[in-house]
Amino acid sequence: MAEPERLEHVDPRDSESGGSGTIFDPARFDAIVNLCKRRGFVFPSSEIYGGIRSTYDYGPLGALMLRNVKDAWWRSMVQERDDVVPIDAAIITNPRVWEASGHLATFTDPLVDCRSCHARLRADHVGDTCTSCGSHDLTEARPFNLMFKTFVGPVEDDSAVAYLRPETAQGMFVNFANVVTTTRRKPPFGIAQIGRSFRNEITPGNFVFRTREFDQMEMEFFVPPPDAPRWFEYWCGERLGWYERYGMPAQMLRLRHHDKEELSHYSAGTADVEFAFPWGWGELEGIANRTDYDLKAHSEHSGVSLAYFDQASGERYLPYVIEPAAGATRTMMAFLLAAYDEDVVAGESRTVLRLHPRLAPYQAAVLPLSKKEELSTLAREVHAALRRRFVCDYDETQAIGRRYRRQDEIGTPYCVTVDFDSLEDRAATVRERDSTEQVRLPIDQLAGHLGELLEPPAR
Ligand code: GAP
Repeated sequence: MAEPERLEHVDPRDSESGGSGTIFDPARFDAIVNLCKRRGFVFPSSEIYGGIRSTYDYGPLGALMLRNVKDAWWRSMVQERDDVVPIDAAIITNPRVWEASGHLATFTDPLVDCRSCHARLRADHVGDTCTSCGSHDLTEARPFNLMFKTFVGPVEDDSAVAYLRPETAQGMFVNFANVVTTTRRKPPFGIAQIGRSFRNEITPGNFVFRTREFDQMEMEFFVPPPDAPRWFEYWCGERLGWYERYGMPAQMLRLRHHDKEELSHYSAGTADVEFAFPWGWGELEGIANRTDYDLKAHSEHSGVSLAYFDQASGERYLPYVIEPAAGATRTMMAFLLAAYDEDVVAGESRTVLRLHPRLAPYQAAVLPLSKKEELSTLAREVHAALRRRFVCDYDETQAIGRRYRRQDEIGTPYCVTVDFDSLEDRAATVRERDSTEQVRLPIDQLAGHLGELLEPPAR
């Protein structure tokens, strides 16, 4: 059996144990960006051609983790609820959708040009000084629309202009009547979607925090108008709780209500779930009371009434909408930052991602103690059985301690070690990432045991 390890803890958030003592720790950001590249979470996109600014590809571990983040959201927002149905809408829509939604007129950032170095900058980010060369010779601010324009079909004229969606939300509004008719839902109920959105951000940056394409996880919850304030409060609590249930420390999260001046054109009230990013508080998700703005706008622009007819009361009305809108890519980065930790095991320092087991790229890793064929054969058997239920790594190179460290660094919650005793007793050692504690279990009980440990958090 592999030797148990001794654990000394250094929490980067705790100054007494040698950490920086702050939830806003730039060193943690550098460590995560480095780890993401080194271990294959996130790569600069089209890197062999020099990349393209602030665009990223998700590598083998990043693709697994991003999927887990989306699955965790889907599970709590769709699968475990009986009042939310899913859709999967197109990215390119009739451009009139964006006219009606207000995006063509108002989805803009104020832009200035520097007359000295010709940099193009966001007016609200630079004040009166060019951040590129320090000049004060800036043009007047003018609005810049953030939607990516394209042409549908072979002719590139005005009649062929279309836009890549800047949010998934409109797919839910324009399908409202279709969903009501086909599912016979009545308010309160929601329509949820996960998908890619595109914004021609002027100043993308901070790694995957702000990019030009990103995945959103949005839900539009349609309610009778008088019930909107109650549902707004409900969804604020529900969504904040989701991040905590998946392991984000409460002190790294807060709910911030928008002032009147900050509200979007459609909103009667918005609160952001914010995370303590290394550079300060930043938005993970917005929860908005969108009133009947969207259904009304689409009814007027399309000429198709999206009012709901309540057969019980004989009333026809436009439901209000409460929208929890989160970004999957940004949320994945926040989970990585929150999970990053360093401690000392058996006298050796290690990096460990204390990710919730449901979010970690691999739920388990199977590690034969040696490369000897008799062990590999049994370990491969164990791996084959476990991977039917879990995403499992298999690693037989280098010393077992090094292999534990490698799995700790990518957040694998359980390592299953197959050793020479296993050939006799048909048992293996399960080592838990955070405590490094080990238990010995019969091989045929491993899947059941891991299944219990990996249960998703209850709502
Ligand atoms: N339908 C409402 C809506 O789209 P939003 O606040 O603009 O609201 C929702 O976007 C979430 O999408 C944000 O809280 C953020 O997590 C994510 N998001 C927005 N722009 C992003 C960008 N450029 N890069 C990465 N994530 C972004």
